[in-house]
Amino acid sequence: MITVENVTKRYRNMDAGAVNNLSLSIGESLIYGIIGKSGAGKSTLLRIMSLLETPDSGAVYYNGKRVDNLSQRELIERRRLNSMIFQSFNLFSSRNVFNNIAYPMEIVGKTRKEIAKRVGELLELVELKDKAISPISKLSGGQKQRVAIARALANNPEILFCDEATSALDPSTTLSILRLIREIKAALNITVVMITHQMEVVREVCEHLSVMDAGNIVESGTVREVFSFPKTGIAREFISALKPLDRAVGTADV
Ligand SMILES: Nc1ncnc2c1ncn2[C@@H]1O[C@H](COP(=O)(O)OP(=O)(O)O)[C@@H](O)[C@H]1O
Ligand SMILES: [Mg+2]
Repeated sequence: MITVENVTKRYRNMDAGAVNNLSLSIGESLIYGIIGKSGAGKSTLLRIMSLLETPDSGAVYYNGKRVDNLSQRELIERRRLNSMIFQSFNLFSSRNVFNNIAYPMEIVGKTRKEIAKRVGELLELVELKDKAISPISKLSGGQKQRVAIARALANNPEILFCDEATSALDPSTTLSILRLIREIKAALNITVVMITHQMEVVREVCEHLSVMDAGNIVESGTVREVFSFPKTGIAREFISALKPLDRAVGTADV
């Protein structure tokens, strides 16, 4: 369970916070969507929840333990249980597929044998067994995101944070990545936090969602609840713009 309590983050030159006195609880083993327009503060919230950034005020708890004020050593330990994927994949272009996935295991000092075994399992999971020695430049966008997912899972994280993970992909590739995320969540029982500006993504994979606007959560509920009875104008706007996934998604969040 991730709990964010009265969190505010204001960057220099901003009148209002990127995140503004925001509170939110995300239950374990859920795929939880956070949807909002560009600039709503989603990525800032994600960086705070994943402990990459410290809020100006407020607190973050994992399973009731406060984690936003950990010592540097504890923070490094805790961050290892979090993993992240992005719109831009963030792979190492100088490393092949195998060595990209191996990277987080090298950092924690796994042996070559352990790494080879785990990379093999992960390549199977993301259906890229035949691409182990491919250079990243030879992969499609969907394949790159699969490598990023495999790398994110390498050290058995408890939470997978996804920031616009499908926003650079075409619609059918988006669907295949969302299905993979759903399979992974079911197989590994991890918590997945999906940040997106695409309601289609929420509808396809999320169980719960929160709608974010101007640095705050304006509405939360199960996907069924919010889609059936949206309470805010912004939720209604997202829902009314919904299109079938095979037509609607694939436009980058610019
Ligand atoms: N590192 C930063 N420095 C200054 N301003 C930032 C920084 N990160 C985000 N912002 C600002 O905070 C607001 C929210 O940004 P962000 O969290 O990236 O929103 P979203 O991910 O929903 O598009 C925006 O106005 C953005 O310009
Ligand atoms: Mg963002």
